[in-house]
Amino acid sequence: MVFIDHTPENQDKSFLGVPVLGKITNLKSDKNQKAIVGIGSNEARKKLVNRFNFDWINAIHPFSSIADDVKLGRGNVICAGSIVQTGAIIGNHVILNTRASVDHHCKVDDFCHLAGAHLAGRSILEEGVFMALGSTILPKLLVKKWAIIGAGSVVSRNVEEGDIMFGAPAKVKLKNTMGWTNLRKSMLDGGRQDPAVNRGSDSYCDRQGR
Ligand SMILES: CC(C)(COP(=O)(O)OP(=O)(O)OC[C@H]1O[C@@H](n2cnc3c(N)ncnc32)[C@H](O)[C@@H]1OP(=O)(O)O)[C@@H](O)C(=O)NCCC(=O)NCCS
Repeated sequence: MVFIDHTPENQDKSFLGVPVLGKITNLKSDKNQKAIVGIGSNEARKKLVNRFNFDWINAIHPFSSIADDVKLGRGNVICAGSIVQTGAIIGNHVILNTRASVDHHCKVDDFCHLAGAHLAGRSILEEGVFMALGSTILPKLLVKKWAIIGAGSVVSRNVEEGDIMFGAPAKVKLKNTMGWTNLRKSMLDGGRQDPAVNRGSDSYCDRQGR
């Protein structure tokens, strides 16, 4: 097992005995090789998954709990303390970070990230939704694509595509217009800085736990 990490200071290091083999730019697709993308930014994760062809596997912490009938896709990271309850559907390349919970009959679509957040029964997260630390979504709600729910927020209404919500009850504060074409090209292009990457998108990527 190895890490691929683009951070310059992590080259030639190892973490928990697992060595860093090199940067993303050194990586070549190999569909016989098992791999997982653990980058917290939903946009960056999607970009990398679309760029490389690997045998995407799930990484599931032994101290997580997943009900027997849960439908789980590929490339998911399920961290310690996370709980996925009966009837839930988890797509592909989802991160359930430490102590996240997905309650009964919820659907979490591809490239979502729940950072210690809580999704109540029968709620739906569409693609790329980020729920920041300690946020909560009340039952039977729909959160549309690429919305961001701020830390500690309580969502009590459906959320429109790309909305950024804070507070309890959560209100729309901003529109997430970055999409995933506007992410940190510097990482993907071998460390070259790209002036087209604006401060806003950098800021969101960092705050999403990369
Ligand atoms: C949603 C989020 C990413 C937005 O970040 P941002 O757009 O850069 O927001 P800023 O930090 O610039 O804050 C803008 C304003 O909103 C306020 N604000 C930001 N997040 C807030 C929150 N969760 N609840 C209430 N107010 C919040 C700030 O205080 C600031 O107010 P001000 O203008 O009066 O000073 C960020 O709020 C967040 O929740 N970060 C946590 C990410 C996380 O959970 N990471 C863990 C990954 S493992």
